[in-house]
Amino acid sequence: MKRRTALTGTAALALAASLPLPALAQKKIVLGFSQIGAESEWRTANTESIKQAAKDAGIELKFADAQQKQENQIKAIRSFIAQKVDVIAFSPVVESGFETVLREAKAAKIPVILTDRAVNAKDDSLWVTFMGSDFLEEGRKAGRWLLDKEKNTKGDVNIVELQGTVGSAPAIDRKKGFEEIIKTQPRFKIVRSQTGDFTRAKGKEVMQAFLKADPKKINVLYAHNDDMAIGAIQAIEEAGLKPGKDITIISIDGVKGAFEAMMAGKLNVSVECSPLLGPQLMKAVQDVVAGKPVPKRIVTQESVFPMETAAAEFPKRKY
Ligand code: AHR
Repeated sequence: MKRRTALTGTAALALAASLPLPALAQKKIVLGFSQIGAESEWRTANTESIKQAAKDAGIELKFADAQQKQENQIKAIRSFIAQKVDVIAFSPVVESGFETVLREAKAAKIPVILTDRAVNAKDDSLWVTFMGSDFLEEGRKAGRWLLDKEKNTKGDVNIVELQGTVGSAPAIDRKKGFEEIIKTQPRFKIVRSQTGDFTRAKGKEVMQAFLKADPKKINVLYAHNDDMAIGAIQAIEEAGLKPGKDITIISIDGVKGAFEAMMAGKLNVSVECSPLLGPQLMKAVQDVVAGKPVPKRIVTQESVFPMETAAAEFPKRKY
């Protein structure tokens, strides 16, 4: 028994000597991530997904919250470059104005991954891949749902629109996609449109102004995200109207709060936009570091949830 232990010990020592030290063999990948902020239930779920996935993948995450300011994102990216991280990823608060800092990252040979939102720079060599939803299609889905709902009605359909953050990819594309569909029937009219910055508080405030100022009857609210719709629902109720009945409400994201509103009959439909990008981001980071090819565009597959489906879907929701 004693002799066998000694032999095993010798063999183990020989084996260990032939292997590289774990610390040298497996240097942890360092990822710098600049998040937009915490403006919505969606964003909170997105942050959790990224933090959890980094932990699961054994990637060291340097996380910076930009508090919805582009200047903070630029500062964070510069600081990641100075720290020589392996990969930089970020969700750009607005589409324009990132070219200079992206060139700096390229000059430092640090690959950049765009998540959730795109930039409108012409030089697409400035990022390796862009993963996230097709916002244009989300706007179209919202428009198609409305046209279908109203297919047996006649007369004008007056719509008010709560836009997302000015200059952001989802605000631009969700507006464009929705308009592309409704313009095929001129009786669908956007009578007012203003930003609510993707937050509940501003969604409520702007909806209050719409209800107060607009002499025309509001038939439909199209909100670029669930949080603004939830804020607007409060404003509609405070004005003595029934959300979901007196005013049809369409929004985007599919967060739990929206499902609760749908189950209460106050929100008619939510077009899904998944924030659960963490696992695919970590996979792309590992592939980029390993020199493997990654697709230039990774589109998230998503559904549409009308209120009638909410109770059955709710228990399955992960965000
Ligand atoms: O970029 C995705 C959008 O940003 C979500 O729809 C919205 O809720 C978030 O703040």
